[in-house]
Amino acid sequence: MRSHDSIQHVRGESKFVDDLVAPEGTLFGYVFYSSIAHGKILKLNFSEALKVDGVIDIFSAKDIPGENQIGGIIPDEELFASKEVHYVGQPIALVIAKDRVTAHKAAKKIKAEYEKLKPVFDPREAFEKGNLIVPPRIFSLGDIDSAWDRCDYVVEGKVESGSQEHLYLETQGALAIPVEEGVKIISSTQGPTAVQKTAARVLDIPMNKIEVDVPRLGGGFGGKEDQATAWAVMAALAAVKLNRPVKIILPRQEDMRMTGKRHPYSSDFKIGLNKEGKILAYEVFYFQNAGAAADLSTAILERTLFHSTNSYFIPNVKATAYCCRTNLPPFTAFRGFGGPQAMFVIESAIHKAAQVMGVNPSFIQKKNLLKEGDEFPYGQKTENCRAIKCYEEAENKFDFDSQFKRVKKFNEENKIYKKGIAVMPICFGISFTTTFLNQASALVHVYTDGSVRVSTAAVEMGQGVNAKLVRIASNIFSIDSERIKIDTTNTSRIANTSPTAASKGTDLNGYATIDACNLILERLKKVAKDVLSADDQSLIELKDEVVYLNNSKTDLDWTKLINHAYVKRISLSAQVHHATPNIYFDREKMKGNAFAYHVYGTALLEATVDCLRGTYVIDSVKVVHDFGKSIHPVTDRGQAEGGIVQGLGWMTLEEIIYNEEGKLISDALSTYKVPDIHFVPKELIIHFLEDVPNPYGPLQSKAIGEPPFMYGIGGYFAIINAMKAYKPDKEIFYNAPITNEKVLMWLHSNN
Ligand code: MTE
Ligand code: HPA
Ligand code: MOS
Repeated sequence: MRSHDSIQHVRGESKFVDDLVAPEGTLFGYVFYSSIAHGKILKLNFSEALKVDGVIDIFSAKDIPGENQIGGIIPDEELFASKEVHYVGQPIALVIAKDRVTAHKAAKKIKAEYEKLKPVFDPREAFEKGNLIVPPRIFSLGDIDSAWDRCDYVVEGKVESGSQEHLYLETQGALAIPVEEGVKIISSTQGPTAVQKTAARVLDIPMNKIEVDVPRLGGGFGGKEDQATAWAVMAALAAVKLNRPVKIILPRQEDMRMTGKRHPYSSDFKIGLNKEGKILAYEVFYFQNAGAAADLSTAILERTLFHSTNSYFIPNVKATAYCCRTNLPPFTAFRGFGGPQAMFVIESAIHKAAQVMGVNPSFIQKKNLLKEGDEFPYGQKTENCRAIKCYEEAENKFDFDSQFKRVKKFNEENKIYKKGIAVMPICFGISFTTTFLNQASALVHVYTDGSVRVSTAAVEMGQGVNAKLVRIASNIFSIDSERIKIDTTNTSRIANTSPTAASKGTDLNGYATIDACNLILERLKKVAKDVLSADDQSLIELKDEVVYLNNSKTDLDWTKLINHAYVKRISLSAQVHHATPNIYFDREKMKGNAFAYHVYGTALLEATVDCLRGTYVIDSVKVVHDFGKSIHPVTDRGQAEGGIVQGLGWMTLEEIIYNEEGKLISDALSTYKVPDIHFVPKELIIHFLEDVPNPYGPLQSKAIGEPPFMYGIGGYFAIINAMKAYKPDKEIFYNAPITNEKVLMWLHSNN
C-alpha cells in the first residue's frame, strides 16, 4: 500500500514551508554572507543597502538581545559573525525587505571589508597545527602492539572519502510569526526542539514562549538535524524585532554554499592477517574534516569509531579519531552519520590486503564476519547476529560463484569493456550514540466521531514515519487507518524532542504511540465491560472496529464504544514518554552497550567500465537485508532503494569541490552531479530477511533509514575491480568518489 503522503506529493497538494499561506504583511529575509574563508571583519557598511526601496531593516550580531551563539554540543558558532569570519558562506547579516527580490538586491549593496587571514582546508594540516575541536578519541580492543608479530601479512594504506551535498528537494527555510509574548516558528527542521532552544538563547526569552511547528520536510537526510536552526532563529529574531511575520527560504545556490555537508575524511590504516585470511589486527587513524565549527562533528566522529570494524570481528583493534577544524562550512549529519566513512576504510583495507594475498576480497570478508556473542571494539557483544545469515543467504540466492565466473569470462572475452563485482556486508548500530537522546513521546486523542489524531516527536521528511505511525496506531486499536491522522510535529504538544535522526524515528515514536494507544485501549475495554455487563474475568477485544466478548462478536463497535466512554467521562486522550531501555555508554572507558540492536545485510554489486572512455554503469545491486518484521514493506523497500542509490552517488558521481580560496565551485546542479533515474542500476533486488525477533523495534520491526546507504560503498569496489581487470598490475587507489575523470586518468596515465 502506498503512503498517504506520496499521493498528496504527486498531486502537488503537500505543503512545504514556502507553500503555506503566509500571513498578510509577511516580510522576506536574505542572508548576507562572507565571501572569504578566514579573516577579520574591518568594516560593514549597510547604508547603500538600506536605501533600496522596499528594504525594511538589516540585522547583524549587534542586534541580538541574547547570546550570539548557535553551537549545540560545543558553543563555538555565532549566528552572525561578529569579529571574524571562518568560511565562505558564513552568515554576517540578514536583510529584511517587502519581498525576496528586493532583499536579494539590497544584500548585494552591502559592503564588507576584511583583513584576510590564512585559511586551512586540509584536515591533516589542521591536525599538524593543533587545530582540533576536541582531544583525540580512541576505541580499542585486545592488544594491537603484540598482534602484528603473529600476522603473516601486514598491509598499510591511505583512504580518502569526499563530502556530499544533501540536496533535499526543499531548501532550508522558516516562517516566523510574532504572537503575544513570543514567536511561532514554522521550520523545515529535523529537530524542532533545537530550533526552540536556540531561538530562546538568541532572543533571551524562555522556551515556553516559543512554539516550533514542523508540518513536513521535503527531505532532510541529516542536513536539517542541526543546520535548519540558523535560518529559523534569524527569522524569529527579525519577526520579534519588527513585530511582523518573516520568511526566509534559501535559494538553492545559497543553500549549497552556506550549509555543511557530509564530512570528508582522510584516513590511514594498517591491517594484519594470518595465512588463512583471519584478520588479527587493525589500526586506523581518522582525520575528520569538521569545517569551521563543531556542529555535530564530535558525535559523528564517535559513530565513525563505532563502525570502524563494520561487520567483522577483529580481536585487536585501535581506532584513533581526530576532529580537525578547517575553514570550510561546518560539516554536519548525513545519512550514516560518520559510519559510512569508517566502513569505506575497513573495506579498502580488506581490498588492499586481498591484492597482496592474491585472493578475492570476499574470501577475507566472509572469513571474518561477526558471530553470535562476538565483541565490538566498544565492548558490546552481538545478539541475534545476522551477519553470517545475510551473507550466506545472499551467496546462495544470488549464486556468488557463478557470478564471479561469469564476470571473469566476460573480462577474458572483452578488451574495452570490463566488469567488476564486489560484495558489501554491513552492520549498523541502532540508537543515538548520545544515550540521552533515545527518548520520545506521543500524544493521542480520540474524538467522539471515532477519529484519532496522533502527535509525536517524529518529523516526516519523506522517510515514511507517518505511514508507519498510522499503521502502528491502527494495529493497536484495530481500526481503519483512514481514521488516523498524524499531526504536525509541534513543541507545544510534544516537548523536549530529540531530532528525528539516527534512523530512530519509528522505533522511539512508534513505541510511545503504542503505549499511548494501549493506555486508551485499556480504558475503553473497561467501558466495554460495563456496557456489556460482563464480569471482571471476561475477555474483551477489539477486532476490525468491533468489540468481542469472550471471542464472540457483540454489536458494540468502535464509534459506539467511544461515545459510551465520552458520556461516562472517561479520558480519550493519553500522553506517554518512551526511553530505550538497557543502553549506556561510558565515555571514560569508551565501552558500553551503546546500541539497542544492530542491523545487518549483504549486497552483491556489479559494474561495467568502458575502459576507453573511463565511464561506467552500476549494472546491479542485489541485497539480502535484515528488516526485522517490516511494518510497512513498500516504505521499507523505498528506503532501501533510495539509500543504496544515495550511497552509490557518494562513492561515484558526487564530487564537492572547493577552490584554493575555499569557495564552493560545485554549487549548482550543472557542476554537481547526482544520480538520476538513468544511473539507477537496472537490477536492484532487495530480499527481505524477516526471521529475527526484535524486542527493541515496534511490532518487531528494525530501523531502515540509514543502514542501506552503506551498500553503496560496494559500488566503488565493483568499479575498481573492473579497472583492475583492464590493468591487473597497476596499483589501485582508495579515493572516493571514483569519478569518470579519475577512472580515465588511472586507466591511461603512466604513473
Ligand atoms: N528518506 C527520505 N525520503 N528523506 C530523508 O530526508 N533521511 C534519512 C532516512 N531516510 C531521509 C530518508 C536519514 S539521514 C535518517 S536518520 C532517517 O531517514 C530518519 O528517519 P527515521 O528515523 O524515521 O528512519
Ligand atoms: N545519529 C544521528 N544523530 C545523532 C546521533 C546519532 O547517532 N548522536 C547524536 N546525534
Ligand atoms: Mo540522519 S544523518 O541521523 O538525520
